[in-house]
Amino acid sequence: METIAPVSENEEDAATAPAPVSATELRNAMGYFLTGVTIVTARGIDQPYGLTVNSFNSVSLDPPLVLWSLDLGHDRADLFRNAGGFTVNVMGADSACDELIRKFSKSDADRFSGANWHSGVSGQPVLTDAIASLECRLWAEYPGGDHVIFIGEVLNISTRDGRPAAYFKGQLSAFSS
Ligand SMILES: Cc1cc2nc3c(=O)[nH]c(=O)nc-3n(C[C@H](O)[C@H](O)[C@H](O)COP(=O)(O)O)c2cc1C
Repeated sequence: METIAPVSENEEDAATAPAPVSATELRNAMGYFLTGVTIVTARGIDQPYGLTVNSFNSVSLDPPLVLWSLDLGHDRADLFRNAGGFTVNVMGADSACDELIRKFSKSDADRFSGANWHSGVSGQPVLTDAIASLECRLWAEYPGGDHVIFIGEVLNISTRDGRPAAYFKGQLSAFSS
């Protein structure tokens, strides 16, 4: 796995730079950027783990690479490192997916109870209700401030018909095609 150091700004640039953007300002601005919604899952030591994620994106077609970023405050980076991979489950706009999206973002929820899932080709959990699942081997990780950026090499893909869930200005909705 590769890692890379962040680019540091020089002193002259820092002196003329505008006031730093706050976390709230950035979060609000990102709210204007419509995304899909995924649940990223990985096998844990005793039980599977997963969380709702919208930082997912594609990186490369050859090799087939995707990325997402994990908040270091969750204290789960080692779980994904030890799992050696993850599945990105792209969630639909139906009620089953909606329930899973909410459950997998709540800290106190028993996330996998009542969820339909199976172990994929790489041994990582795959959510059966997802409209697409990309099973990945952990290919690299990069520092990203208070997040870590995980890059996965896609080993297997499954899809089913369905409209995708959408996330915009802090609200879940459906994307009508
Ligand atoms: C729509 C949506 C998108 C999210 N995207 C991310 C993300 O990209 N990365 C991340 O670390 N947390 C993301 N979260 C927050 C996590 O889902 C949530 O904090 C996490 O489930 C907490 O897990 P823990 O209780 O195991 O720490 C998102 C939440 C929602 C509702």
